[in-house]
Amino acid sequence: MRLALIGAGRIGKVHAATIAGHPDITLAGVSDFHLPSAQALAELHGSKALSAESIFDDDSIDAILIASSTPTHADYLERAARAGKAVLCEKPIALDLPRTREALTVLASHPVVCALGFNRRHDPQFAALKQGIVDGRIGQLETLAITSRDPSPPPAEYVAASGGLFRDMTIHDFDMARWLLDEPIHFVHAEGSCLVDPAIGEAGDIDTAVITLTTASGRLCQITNSRRAVYGYDQRIEAFGSLGMLQAQNETDTRVRFTGEAGQVEEKPQLFFLERYARAYQHELDNFYTSWRDGTAPMAGADDGLQALRLAEAAERSLREGRRISMSDID
Ligand SMILES: NC(=O)c1ccc[n+]([C@@H]2O[C@H](COP(=O)([O-])OP(=O)(O)OC[C@H]3O[C@@H](n4cnc5c(N)ncnc54)[C@H](O)[C@@H]3O)[C@@H](O)[C@H]2O)c1
Repeated sequence: MRLALIGAGRIGKVHAATIAGHPDITLAGVSDFHLPSAQALAELHGSKALSAESIFDDDSIDAILIASSTPTHADYLERAARAGKAVLCEKPIALDLPRTREALTVLASHPVVCALGFNRRHDPQFAALKQGIVDGRIGQLETLAITSRDPSPPPAEYVAASGGLFRDMTIHDFDMARWLLDEPIHFVHAEGSCLVDPAIGEAGDIDTAVITLTTASGRLCQITNSRRAVYGYDQRIEAFGSLGMLQAQNETDTRVRFTGEAGQVEEKPQLFFLERYARAYQHELDNFYTSWRDGTAPMAGADDGLQALRLAEAAERSLREGRRISMSDID
């Protein structure tokens, strides 16, 4: 696969390194609005900087990875589909449902392999938890608890353009909930506060949230979010069922534990997503590659992006209106 990367920022750098490390993928070029960033990243991996136009026009390029800023995703996704190129697009497709649906309509009329960057599905811990549920190890799944806390809050200017906590951060947890519950979610009830950084409140957002999801059969899922955890990136999931419980814990750099007179100390969780999900990004890319090679559906696709965004919309409405929202009221 000859794969071009659009976006040479934080996550673009991770993807470039992952592409460079994949035995069957060549980094065909890097494009970024900010040319020096594209040049530096391309050079680092023995590739070249390209304009977005030349990527879409180049028949030798099979696929595109979109890792540029969020407002660019829907346009690039549509252009990739029209050019007949497979596409791995970072989440979200867009921050609103109408624009997301438009992109899905273009994909429907120009079918290409389209994977969405819900990287947590590819995390070995969460994948093993999912397999445990599928294998029936905990019998009937009854409740799911998803804990997702960032180590520290982003700058207020990031918050202002992010679409809000539910669309920016909880979107990953909504996708995990959908994937693990594996049945339609009927109700969403969200509570949220600004407890971490007043600047986030001034930007019109929240930094702390608890969201309850209820499925068609009455299964319950609780998502807990915070923009700050002093001990690192807190990413845990607990699935409880009729025959037991599965827990996916945080990852640490090493498993070394210190024991002394005062007690025992283990390492803190890994710092943030770049560390915690390094393997997930590799598996995500490989899943995209095999989908393209074999014509199979990727683990997460454009419709998963739409459905997670619908849950984010419901959560926002729930918070605003102070009541639980039926998903049948979200278009
Ligand atoms: N799945 C994940 O774990 C994950 C993690 C971080 C970010 N993301 C997503 O990835 C995207 C990028 O996030 P980031 O943190 O890397 O942001 P960033 O600001 O570090 O990088 C974005 C890059 O896009 C470039 N850019 C802006 N407009 C462009 C355009 N029109 N054409 C080409 N390049 C353009 C910018 O110059 C910048 O280099 C966001 O949509 C974000 O939601 C996903």
